[in-house]
Amino acid sequence: MKPRRFGYDRGRRAAALLVLLLCLCLSSAFLLLLHGSSGPLEPAAEEKAAAGARVAEARAEVEEAPLPPGNSKVAFLFIARNRLPLELVWDAFFRGDKEGRFSIFVHSRPGFVLTRATTRSRFFYNRQVNNSIQVDWGEASMITAERILLSHALKDPLNERFVFVSDSCVPLYNFSYTYDYIMSSSTSFVDSFADTKAGRYNPRMDPIIPVENWRKGSQWAVLIKRHAEVVVEDEVVLPEFQKHCRRRPLPEFWRDWDRPIPAEAWKAHNCIPDEHYVQTLLAQTGLEEELTRRSVTHSAWDLSASKDRERRGWHPVTYKVSDATPALIKSIKGIDNIYYETENRREWCTSNGKPAPCFLFARKFTRGAGLKLLDSEVKEPGGSAPAFLQRGVGTSTE
Ligand SMILES: *[C@@H]1O[C@H](CO)[C@@H](O)[C@H](O)[C@H]1NC(C)=O
Ligand SMILES: *[C@@H]1O[C@H](CO)[C@@H](O)[C@H](O)[C@H]1NC(C)=O
Repeated sequence: MKPRRFGYDRGRRAAALLVLLLCLCLSSAFLLLLHGSSGPLEPAAEEKAAAGARVAEARAEVEEAPLPPGNSKVAFLFIARNRLPLELVWDAFFRGDKEGRFSIFVHSRPGFVLTRATTRSRFFYNRQVNNSIQVDWGEASMITAERILLSHALKDPLNERFVFVSDSCVPLYNFSYTYDYIMSSSTSFVDSFADTKAGRYNPRMDPIIPVENWRKGSQWAVLIKRHAEVVVEDEVVLPEFQKHCRRRPLPEFWRDWDRPIPAEAWKAHNCIPDEHYVQTLLAQTGLEEELTRRSVTHSAWDLSASKDRERRGWHPVTYKVSDATPALIKSIKGIDNIYYETENRREWCTSNGKPAPCFLFARKFTRGAGLKLLDSEVKEPGGSAPAFLQRGVGTSTE
């Protein structure tokens, strides 16, 4: 008891002394400052100021130093209508990360909340953004949804890459492979090609968006932080898109096979904002050099539905249960280059400077097809099915 009280008293005295000293220091510093403002500083004060500057400098250095690689996160930005039909596939994928190297944001219809009742994966609980809008597929509202997702994800300074994911998209590799592939590139991955002939460019956008900046490509991009910020801060290109890039309804006689489709008229009246916006914005802002101009998300277009190349874009193939075979996944994972016809450009895919598969994700898969992929992985570990599910780990049924 006694020594403690003694210690306590001594501590109090020491504290009082410290406060006194601090007051003295502060007041003398104040006086010196006053003095310094009218005349040259005393040598001691100069030294003090220099020390202060060094501390500030060191602090700034610490703040600017790059984060250790393990701390950087990939933000997965899901664009869904309602529920996430492939949540269990993603659940298996996210379980592969033990270091918290990802974050999830979901844009679903307004008012939709991800709870135990609406998703079977805990990774998605309450991950919906609270200011979502009604998205009409193929309209400018899709771009707005992308910007809403980015603005939420940018609030977390650890998010370094931003991946757009559709509700019918599946991962093809495990988490660590995917993370390394995305993080090892200092560029964004944006499918982008010149599209001056297709006629979706509306000359009314000129001169705000000149035709030489007009680009086309898949909306399923991976952005670096700088580009994500450019998209969120854009106040120039977006209003032009809202005014002049709109999807037009099909002509009445669309299904009348006796009459030829006036291809030119059809093309001139259609503009799908989400297939042009990010690519055009990044070209417009002079950032194209910072892109890997291909998507890491595979989509297959239905060639059999029409010979007309414009109409092809309207029908990405949906893989159903019977299509979802290890052979299909193997064939997508085997693609190592992409040819861009309009630019006569072939992209040989690389990661970290080495030849690599082009695609990390694939769409479109039904819920049943996704579950079958999970199942075939369990049955054929090491086979050609997706490798994101680790051996011995079951699907999440809690
Ligand atoms: C949405 O959530 C953020 C915090 O994440 C909050 O600051 C904001 O006010 C919320 N907005 C609405 C519309 O509820
Ligand atoms: C992840 O996938 C890559 C490529 O398929 C493989 O080489 C690696 O061993 C896998 N890692 C884990 C932790 O399963």
